[in-house]
Amino acid sequence: MTAPAYLSRQGEFHPDPSLLVVPPEDRERFQRLAGRPLDLSLTPEDRTTAFRQVRAYMAGLVSRPGPGVLGALAREHGDEATVDELAAIGHLMLLAGHETTANMLSLGTLALLRHPGQMRVLRERPDRVDAAVEVLLRWLTVVNAASPRVTTEPVELAGRRLPAGELVLVSLSAANRDPAYVRDPGDLDLTRGEAGHLAFGHGVHHCLGAPLARAELRIALPALLRRFPRLRFADSTAGVRLRPGGLVHGVTALPMAW
Ligand code: HEM
Repeated sequence: MTAPAYLSRQGEFHPDPSLLVVPPEDRERFQRLAGRPLDLSLTPEDRTTAFRQVRAYMAGLVSRPGPGVLGALAREHGDEATVDELAAIGHLMLLAGHETTANMLSLGTLALLRHPGQMRVLRERPDRVDAAVEVLLRWLTVVNAASPRVTTEPVELAGRRLPAGELVLVSLSAANRDPAYVRDPGDLDLTRGEAGHLAFGHGVHHCLGAPLARAELRIALPALLRRFPRLRFADSTAGVRLRPGGLVHGVTALPMAW
């Protein structure tokens, strides 16, 4: 019997790289659809409709479990969780695990292309990649705001008194560019070393995937520069398109030459 794709020959857990295993013929439509709930240029109604469509698609995926992590969950824990719960896990993995790192990689590449001196720093000193990734995480802050919190008691915040039960949305982008906290927060200097940042949020909801995200960025960015020593914009910045206002920042086009 052939081992399922998520098991290595030694029987170790080895997730399919695509995790969710969206069939190839659906991928383009799925990728377009998956970004829509995050697109703040759409009306709340259109975002809600898109959210429901992604959820329905995910429910279809878990109902026909394939290889990959989602399939393994459905097969091994299908009797402990409802289809809705499994679809919600798949959706969370997609939003939290893919949208964030994929956009960090593309926006990180854009930042390096726009700051050739910093690209040189990373190319010449790949051993400094850990510190460089922390700077990029703060400088880009791809996730605009932390998960919503609710005050459990009256609290005074920046001179405003909030009653208990108030919804609080913390802007991570503003916190990470706060001049009271970071010197020259708008300058990109990969060598400066970071005192810490809020790109992964804070407290009990601090990003569960932070170590994985850091590993991906620490591996991928130096590998990109190694593999493409002449990486540059295809036509200055003319073809670059940023995602219009979003909960997770990103690029929709980044034409490059090498
Ligand atoms: C550069 C990449 C990433 C960034 C910037 C990021 C950022 C964040 C932020 C800001 C939060 C909310 C924290 C809060 O409310 O205080 C969060 C939560 C979360 N992230 Fe990430 N994330 C990234 C990658 C990942 C990856 C790769 C995974 C999993 C594979 C992941 C899984 C999660 C989960 C499950 C939560 C919810 C935690 C909870 O509510 O307890 N994230 N992330």
